[in-house]
Amino acid sequence: MTVCEYRAGLEGIPATQSSISFVDGQRGILEYRGIPIEELAQKSNFVETSHLLIWGKLPTKEELENFEQEIRLHRRLKYRIRDMMKCFPEGGHPMDALQACAAALGLFYSRRALDDPAYINAAVIRLLAKIPTMVAAFQLMRKGNDPVQPRDDLGYSANFLYMLNEKEPDPFAAQILDVCLMLHAEHTINASTFSAMVTASTLTDPYAVVASAVGTLAGPLHGGANEEVISMLEEIGSVENVRPYVEQCIEKKSKIMGFGHRVYKVKDPRAIILQDLAEQLFEKYGVDQFYDVAVELERVVHEKMGHKGIYANVDYYSGLVYRKLGIPTDLFTPVFAVSRIAGWLAHWKEQLNENRIFRPTQIYTGTHAAPYIPMSER
Ligand code: ACO
Repeated sequence: MTVCEYRAGLEGIPATQSSISFVDGQRGILEYRGIPIEELAQKSNFVETSHLLIWGKLPTKEELENFEQEIRLHRRLKYRIRDMMKCFPEGGHPMDALQACAAALGLFYSRRALDDPAYINAAVIRLLAKIPTMVAAFQLMRKGNDPVQPRDDLGYSANFLYMLNEKEPDPFAAQILDVCLMLHAEHTINASTFSAMVTASTLTDPYAVVASAVGTLAGPLHGGANEEVISMLEEIGSVENVRPYVEQCIEKKSKIMGFGHRVYKVKDPRAIILQDLAEQLFEKYGVDQFYDVAVELERVVHEKMGHKGIYANVDYYSGLVYRKLGIPTDLFTPVFAVSRIAGWLAHWKEQLNENRIFRPTQIYTGTHAAPYIPMSER
């Protein structure tokens, strides 16, 4: 075995072999099962893309109808899960609520029949179907309202917006959200997916796998960045403040949210599509007050940091899109989870196919044979 040098954050070290997605960070390419993201964003929808990711191929018409129908049938939450949610503090972060709810599913479906295709299928359907309902239910419950029941006649994204806002959405808004969900559905071995794979490798249940991934996605260096982007744009406030803000960040060596990526050294292809979606929304519903600030910030960051390969990432424009869709800021990351569930499930299945428990090594930097110092001498 070749012993590799230690690389912080495992940068550049392959953690698995996978055929789910591909990223070329120099050329700005992202493909799901070989299909470019731009093509999927134009021609597919989130449910079909989830099928592609999880089952490895585009579904036939009949397969897609069955898949959609099964998801529609499993959208409801057990009343005990809703009762559990009633006890959550309304000031708690929705990602924490989602993590608790995902883990709680394991209490109800505790069998770990990981060699039974029917069990795998049921878990895939249940998680894809129920995660959006959990996010929407927490949103209404923290406002003191009863959650609304999912509507079987609405598509995936339309139903999600309906459950969040208690009114049927404009089909255009639902379609834009659907594209956002496709764009966020999968992205090779990022932190949350790696977390899902490590958990999956112990052969625990899929609800524990998803709960660990949700917890990982919540951090501000990962999925949580889209929330931080909005706070940052609000803090900057106006176009004139952009340049001093960037200069200050450079001086203090602080991160500018929504920029930089471990893999992409050009503008993230998803950010390009999201910026276009944001502009389509602004044309129809009016421009966001911070869009000018965002565009100027991207220009100045490019000028000052482009040489280091720091460009807008997926989180930069997604917040502006979600805001226009009426989604509250602290739900941006849960919406990311609603989408990324497809990628996590695809990696869970792939991990099970050729499983070996993750057990990396370490480079010990501590002391040896140290004396035990009695309490009185410390
Ligand atoms: N603002 C300013 N400088 C940055 C930024 C940024 N957003 N991102 C990277 N840099 C600089 C670093 O300061 C460092 O500079 P140095 O070499 O002079 O010290 C260099 O670029 C490399 O940065 P690292 O943090 O080492 O890169 P890493 O690959 O570890 O981190 C990460 C990638 C976490 C995404 C980072 O770019 C970052 O923190 N960005 C802001 C948060 C963000 O937008 N996260 C969302 C990522 S997309 C996603 O998870 C869905």
